This record gives sequence, C-alpha cells and structure tokens, in this order.
Amino acid sequence: MCGIVGYVGKGNAAPFLVEGLKKLEYRGYDSAGIALINDGKFVCKKRKGTVAEISDAADLCSGIGIGHTRWATHGAPSERNAHPHIYGRFAIVHNGILENYALLKEQLESDGETFISETDSEVVAHLLEKFYCGNLLSALREVTEKLVGSYALAVLCLDQPDIIVCARKASPLLVGVKEGACLIASDIPAIAGEGVTAYLLGDGEFALLNAAEAKFYSPQLQPIRKNQLEYDPLISSSDKGGYVHFMKKEMSEIPCSVRNSICDFATKLKFSDFYQVLCQTKYIHIVACGTAYHSGLAVKYAIERLARVPVEVTIASEFRYSNPVICSGTLAIAISQSGETADTLAAAKLFRAKSVPLVAVTNVSYSSLTRIADFVLPTRAGSEIGVAATKSYNAQLTVLYSLAIALENAKGKSGKSLERLKRLPRLATATLEAAETVRSWTSHFVGARCVLFIGRGADYCAAVEGSLKLKEITYLPSEGYPAGELKHGTLALVDERTPVVVLLTNKRLAAKTMNAVHEAAARGAKVFLITSIAEYLENEEVFASVLIPQCSEAFTPLLSVIPLQALAYYTAIACGNDPDKPRNLAKSVTVE
Ligand code: G6P
Repeated sequence: MCGIVGYVGKGNAAPFLVEGLKKLEYRGYDSAGIALINDGKFVCKKRKGTVAEISDAADLCSGIGIGHTRWATHGAPSERNAHPHIYGRFAIVHNGILENYALLKEQLESDGETFISETDSEVVAHLLEKFYCGNLLSALREVTEKLVGSYALAVLCLDQPDIIVCARKASPLLVGVKEGACLIASDIPAIAGEGVTAYLLGDGEFALLNAAEAKFYSPQLQPIRKNQLEYDPLISSSDKGGYVHFMKKEMSEIPCSVRNSICDFATKLKFSDFYQVLCQTKYIHIVACGTAYHSGLAVKYAIERLARVPVEVTIASEFRYSNPVICSGTLAIAISQSGETADTLAAAKLFRAKSVPLVAVTNVSYSSLTRIADFVLPTRAGSEIGVAATKSYNAQLTVLYSLAIALENAKGKSGKSLERLKRLPRLATATLEAAETVRSWTSHFVGARCVLFIGRGADYCAAVEGSLKLKEITYLPSEGYPAGELKHGTLALVDERTPVVVLLTNKRLAAKTMNAVHEAAARGAKVFLITSIAEYLENEEVFASVLIPQCSEAFTPLLSVIPLQALAYYTAIACGNDPDKPRNLAKSVTVE
C-alpha cells in the first residue's frame, strides 16, 4: 500500500519520479504526486487517480524531488489527501500507517497548527517543522520517536535543498546509488537499472542522500555500513512485454513460474537442518492472506494426502488475536507473494516469539518475511504487477507441493510424486490453451446477481481462489463453496441469474459433485463445467465446459485455477474494468 520514490542528483529528478511511480502503481493508485525544489521553493503536482494524471510533471526541472502513489487509508482518495504533504520548509511522502496520528494532530492543533488533509501522514511535516534546529537527521529521528505504527518516510527541506533524508519502520524502503545520483523507492523495479547499486534500509535505520553518496545510520544515528542488495533481475523487470494487461502476461508466464519453482528438497536438503526439522515435524500451521491463504488451503490437501501430517491453515489477521494453541512439533509456514503483508508478518512474528520454526514462502528474496524466517523457500514467479495474483499462486503451490514431497520422503513414504510434479509445467501450457474457451462465457457472467464456484476436496480449494479472482476484478458478488454444502443454505441464492461454475477433477468424488449440478440446474442456473474427466462434458445439464489435462489428484488446483483466472480476466474486460487495477485494492497491504 502506497509507493514512494525520491531522486537527488545531477540529472533531472521529475522523469525518474514519474516513471518510478508508474512501476510502483501496484501498491496503490488512488492519487499520485511529486514535489521538487526549484529556486528555493517547492514545486508540487498532485492529482487524484493514477500516475498518468501527473505524467506532464515529468517536464518539471529540478535535481531533487520525492513522489508518492497512494492507497487511501485515512481520508478519501482526493487531491487534498494526496502526498507529498508540504508544511513550512518541509515536504514529505509516507508509506505506512501512523496509529497515534489523531493524538499527535490534536496536540499540534491545540498549539494553533492547521491541517490541510485528513491523512495520518501530514503530522510528520508539522512535527519536522517543530523539531528542526538545523540538523535534518536529528529532527527526523526526534519525529520518528513520537510515531507509533509503520512508516517509510522521505523528506525534503528548503533549508538544505541538496539532500533527502529517509527513515523506515515496518514498511519497505530501498536506496539506489549510481554515478551522479542517489535514488529511493519502496520496491526494486523503480530503481533497478544499469549501474545502480541497491541497499535495503533496515527497521529503525535512517539514510541521508545527496548527489554524490548515500550515508546510512543506525536508530541511534551512528554511521553504519550496508551490504549491497543482490536482486533477481527477473523480479525487477516490469513491462507488459507486448500484452495489453499485466494480468494476461503474468498468466502466460505460469508454466515458466511453475518450472522454475519446482524444488527437489528431499534430495537437495537431505541431512540439512531443514530436513531434520521436517523429520521432526508433527503438525504444520500455515498463515497467509488473500490468494496466499488459498494456496495454504490447497497445500493442506496435498500435505495431508502425501505425507499424512496434519495441517491447519489460518487467515493471518485472525491468527494474531485467536490465542492459538500451538502443539510441540509444529512447523509454521507463512506464505506471502510480497513478503511484506503486515498481517502475515505479525502472525509469523508470533510463531517466532513462541520459538516455532518458521518457513517463509515468498516471491521477494529481500522482503521483511525473508529476514525473520528460519528457512526461506523462494517462489520463482518473477515480478508480478497485476493486483490480482495469478502466476504467484501457481508458483506458491509448486514450492509447497515440493515441500509436501520432501515431507512425504522425510516420513519414509516415498512415491512418484516428484515425477508427477515435474509434468505440471507442460500440463499448465496445455491448460492455458484450453482456458481460452472461457472467453465466450463472459456474456453470461456480466450483470449476474451472484456467481457460485463449487467443488469438493482439492476442487473446492481452487473454487475459492476462482471466486476471489472474479470478485476482485469484476466486482460481481461471488462465493466459492464446497459442492456438498450448497444444499445447506447457499442453494437459496440459485436462480437463472446465478451462473454456477463447477470444478470436477476427481473421479472418486465426481458423482457426488454432480448431485450439486442437478440441484443447481433444476433451479434454472446455467452450469459451467471445468473438468479433466471427459465423460462429463456432454452432460445435458452442463451449459458450457472446458476440458483440462489430468494430473495427480493432490496437485489439481494448480491447473484447474487457470480457466478461473482467465474467466475473471475476460469478464473484467467485458465489464469495462481494468483488470490490473481493481478499485479499492492494492497488491501489497502493509497495514494491519
Ligand atoms: C492483497 C492483494 C491480494 C494478495 C494479498 C496477500 O490483499 O490484493 O491479491 O493475495 O494481499 O498478499 P501477499 O503479498 O502476502 O501474498
């Protein structure tokens, strides 16, 4: 949520700021703005909406500036609430949430200060003006001591027009250094480029940037040396590669993401610490949010089936306050594409506090989650920009299925699972081709009263993800439901305006799932079938269908989700929505 950028150097700041913000738009696109210093004054341009609204600001001239793209938390998306916030000699941009801002604002207002915006962030500019006595870093430190919550901050001061100072706590911030300039950004794609050395600012640390160098400081403002950040160029690339939308491009990358994410842990890690932990594991507890939570549901099915180790999956924001019972022999797994989701991080820290070994499954090697985990299992999906997660889900499943196989092996139950897993990239390519059929289904979904996605077992796990995809980008009400549970209440929703998408990949359960098809069709619903069992294609109650390849029962969500992702994508377009930028959402939610 929210992306920030900064530039100080011999070149022109504005084009970098605008381009950098475009690469961070996945973090929010409610408003955008930049502030520069020119002739001893601030020049600021901000607008409600996406970064495209301030594209012409790229023509402004200055060697120093900061920028922001917003996902609104405090105060509506509006120009007034857009960052940068300017007060007196200071301009600031902020990513995070200040939990005590109301109290701080009240105190400042009682001192006679007036505020322009409804944001939590504006207090920072006021506090800087209050504490500044000529030393910018000391003032920033004093201000951050007053803040409760999370922040990545970048500050400009008219008294020192050649430097940017930054601070971070619990929100990511990277510094880039290149010949003649220093850069900052919330994520690598905005600063990555030839000749750029990147550094990660740690929690509580500060940085001071000028055109020649970046200096780093401890929370006590002692100078510190930082190691260069190694980053994957795959993660840092962020162009559409000829596709109209990132979502479609990222779906086309599913086979490659799956291929790259397969890991033979059992052989590779035998006799390692991690393998020993797997041998001793009696229970697994998974925490995650959104799509990553759905990966957890799907892998529970695979782990329990292959390794017979019981798995619990909890939504991270619920886990935190549930006073969880944690048994000895538990292995915790936190799944997060970004590795920055605040709820997931908080749940992961709770496991750490109870000395439970923690595995991070994440797509970002330098993320906060990576840094707190005992073991990191990277997903190799490459950069994912579309807010609706696609290839990262398939990559998470691949890594977690690899883990399930390692557990199967550690529990002395070796089978043919790895060979079966290795077939998935090829099968994913075939599924992508088959999934194009759903393009012709969209007219039956646009304007639907409600859409139901149903299945049993692993099919149910894919159904909930299919439902989330659809509602995220089409705004149609939808539910993912266990097929057998439909008759216990939800069937009341079904009529001729309720398309029912049925997942059917398990022969053992097929006849039972078909009962739900009969129940829905009898109430006038159109049934859309996604199946790997050819004999059901011609069923007279099925309105339309897609045949997908068969794969091992434990792994089916990895394939069956693909037509569901395509259905959401094409329906969003038919609804006139931008699938890459759904309203109200952001890809990375760094507030609890
Ligand atoms: C946000 C995104 C979802 C994502 C969830 C978890 O809500 O909109 O698409 O699944 O965060 O993100 P993570 O980075 O932790 O996987």
